[in-house]
Amino acid sequence: MKIIIDTDPGQDDAAAIMLALGSPELEVLGITAVAGNVPLALTERNARIVCEMSGRTDIKVFAGAEAPLVQPLVTAEHVHGKTGLDGPELFNPSFPLQDGHAVDFIVETLLAEAPGTVTLCPIGPLTNIALALQKEPSLAGRIQQIVLMGGGYFAQGNITPSAEFNIYVDPEAAAIVMACGAPIVMMPLDVTHKVMTTKARVERIRAIDNRAARAMVEMLVFYERFDEEKYGTDGGPLHDPTTIAWLLQPDLFQGRMCNVEIETSSKLTRGATVVDWWGVTKRAKNALVLQEVDADGFFDLFAERLANLG
Ligand code: RIB
Ligand code: CA
Repeated sequence: MKIIIDTDPGQDDAAAIMLALGSPELEVLGITAVAGNVPLALTERNARIVCEMSGRTDIKVFAGAEAPLVQPLVTAEHVHGKTGLDGPELFNPSFPLQDGHAVDFIVETLLAEAPGTVTLCPIGPLTNIALALQKEPSLAGRIQQIVLMGGGYFAQGNITPSAEFNIYVDPEAAAIVMACGAPIVMMPLDVTHKVMTTKARVERIRAIDNRAARAMVEMLVFYERFDEEKYGTDGGPLHDPTTIAWLLQPDLFQGRMCNVEIETSSKLTRGATVVDWWGVTKRAKNALVLQEVDADGFFDLFAERLANLG
């Protein structure tokens, strides 16, 4: 399966990238960075660092949007640290960023590949994806599916009471993506809050003992402190790799087709994903909204694939 990962690393983004690079079923055509957890200059650098930690300096990494379509950029250093990848010792990546803008790479790749054969996995704000859809109106019809981490229904929000971070940062972009007509799989907080990096699960990753797994453990130990200190939980939610896991083992998840709209104007609820879970409107069911996950099964998969990153 050919995929493009659009990302704002972020320790959980790193987990998604490592899971993808450790899975032979997936061909990562490229990684496109977007401003989100930290500014673009850091997210593109972090994406290259994670590829290098995974032994994959051949991966094409592009820089994309440095700001949302309309809103001022909101970042999340409070969760991910100043670098966005706090935890392991970082280094200057040994391979360069690709020339050219991430949005052009997305458009050109989708036009060059056979229609319906490339999946987009956005795991940060949706700015790059929206810009690509605006740049090439035929694009939506060529996308195999968009498997995104974002939103929340019963789980509501994590950056405001009603909005999840990726959608909140660029709600206008999210609205464009949700309305584009391509098949959409939405991995909301309702699922990711059930995928917790407990001590036992982190020890399992530590036992793999290769470069990528060692770095991942240091990332998780740093990243989970936020939720442990704030909520007293054992670990924190591992959001982004659930999208890759869905590609590899969709049976780990359960959900239903729903209509999803994005609130873009309310001061109080901007960035909320309004999910018609109970089918009370006649609005088109534009997204598969997942709710349940076999978290142990996810970590079995995650550990198995990280071990491939020898
Ligand atoms: O709300 C969680 C999402 O916001 C994840 O993608 C995390 O990396 C941050 O970008
Ligand atoms: Ca992310």
